[in-house]
Amino acid sequence: MKIGICNDHAGVEYKFKLVSMLQKKGIEVVNYGTDTSLSVDYPDYAHRLANAVENGEVELGIALCGTGNGMAIALNKHQGIRAGLAWDTPVGELVAQHNNANVLVLPARFISYPKASAIVRKWLDTPFAGGRHQTRIDKIPCR
Ligand code: RB5
Repeated sequence: MKIGICNDHAGVEYKFKLVSMLQKKGIEVVNYGTDTSLSVDYPDYAHRLANAVENGEVELGIALCGTGNGMAIALNKHQGIRAGLAWDTPVGELVAQHNNANVLVLPARFISYPKASAIVRKWLDTPFAGGRHQTRIDKIPCR
């Protein structure tokens, strides 16, 4: 399993903690930045991660910014991305089970690190339910 991770300045602290947590689980993590708390523009990092998921460089992605909304909006401009924002563990479960999100987005300024870690673990451990949820996902692309 290879996961990409990206963040803006608001998510940098949680990013490093999540990378350690994932590596301890034996998951390979590719870091798409940023690595300091200097102010940056979240789309620069969202697009790097989205491209990596779309071209198969990584299987899944995790993105962090202050609210999670900037990252989610930019990521979801990519046709191959289903980025889901999760702020609690049951949402992390549903974003995998119902939305088959290939990128999990976290609102770093609005949740604790233990919550962020629990959400990531739940998302990774939950299989996609398929069925009616696949039918709905198939209707997402704009025609
Ligand atoms: C940065 O201040 C903040 O705007 C950003 O992290 C994010 O919340 C944007 O949606």
